[in-house]
Amino acid sequence: MAAAGDILQVRELSKSFGRLQAVDGISFVLEAKKITILIGPNGSGKTTLVNLISGFYKPDSGDVFYKSKRITGWAPHRVYRAGIARTFQIPALFSKLNVLENVLVAEKHNPGEGFLRAPLERLWKAPEEASTERAAKILEILGLSKLWDKRASTLSGGQMKLLEMGRALMSGAELLLLDEPISGVNPTLAHEIFNTVVRLSEELGVTFLIIEHRLDIALGYVDNVIAMAYGKLIVSGSPDAVISDPRVIEAYIGA
Ligand SMILES: Nc1ncnc2c1ncn2[C@@H]1O[C@H](COP(=O)(O)OP(=O)(O)OP(=O)(O)O)[C@@H](O)[C@H]1O
Ligand SMILES: [Mg+2]
Repeated sequence: MAAAGDILQVRELSKSFGRLQAVDGISFVLEAKKITILIGPNGSGKTTLVNLISGFYKPDSGDVFYKSKRITGWAPHRVYRAGIARTFQIPALFSKLNVLENVLVAEKHNPGEGFLRAPLERLWKAPEEASTERAAKILEILGLSKLWDKRASTLSGGQMKLLEMGRALMSGAELLLLDEPISGVNPTLAHEIFNTVVRLSEELGVTFLIIEHRLDIALGYVDNVIAMAYGKLIVSGSPDAVISDPRVIEAYIGA
């Protein structure tokens, strides 16, 4: 059941590819400002579920509500503008732009370079400065300040994942969907990334839904866990309860 503090509600969501039922009647709610991880064996439907919430796929049936507004079937840019941003299993950055530029291009109200802009310079200069300030603050929380003028392509894998998060935050998103933010990242940086996630949720009130395989690292930082297998939600609850649940253990052994 949805409650007042819930930011996202997913109801009986389903998606198949041909005969494969990738997401099969999934329902859950996300409480605002909490960190939830989505776990499950390879191919259990985690990325598909995130694609359905973020508008990259249209569900066959079911509904998604964001802040009580029905967003089912909305196009990705519309979902993004509503306040849900996502990252990808492989970071999607502008490799030739520097760190600061990558964050700035994500700004939702970026006035752009329309032909009226030059004569109206006075009008756009002020927001541009405010954007730069916000970008600087985000880079500071992410620990990327010193790298602001480095090309995105020269960053380490972990730094790219942080930068991708920065871009999502710059859009003003209140709900971040992260697809394996620490995959291929060394343990030290992986802990740093999860510490950053905790800071972002505490200081900026961001809600997180994070797909993650590396439970040894992730579990210590999260409020809730949702476990999937074969497209279905099998268990959800506190990290301890979910991890010790025989159905979850069986799903991993069976996979
Ligand atoms: N666009 C697509 N077309 C056809 N089948 C797809 C498509 N996307 C996903 N699938 C299939 O749907 C199932 C669920 O895939 P999904 O990527 O959601 O799993 P996952 O839980 O994210 O796995 P992993 O942990 O490996 O990233 C898989 O069997 C996959 O092959
Ligand atoms: Mg996946």
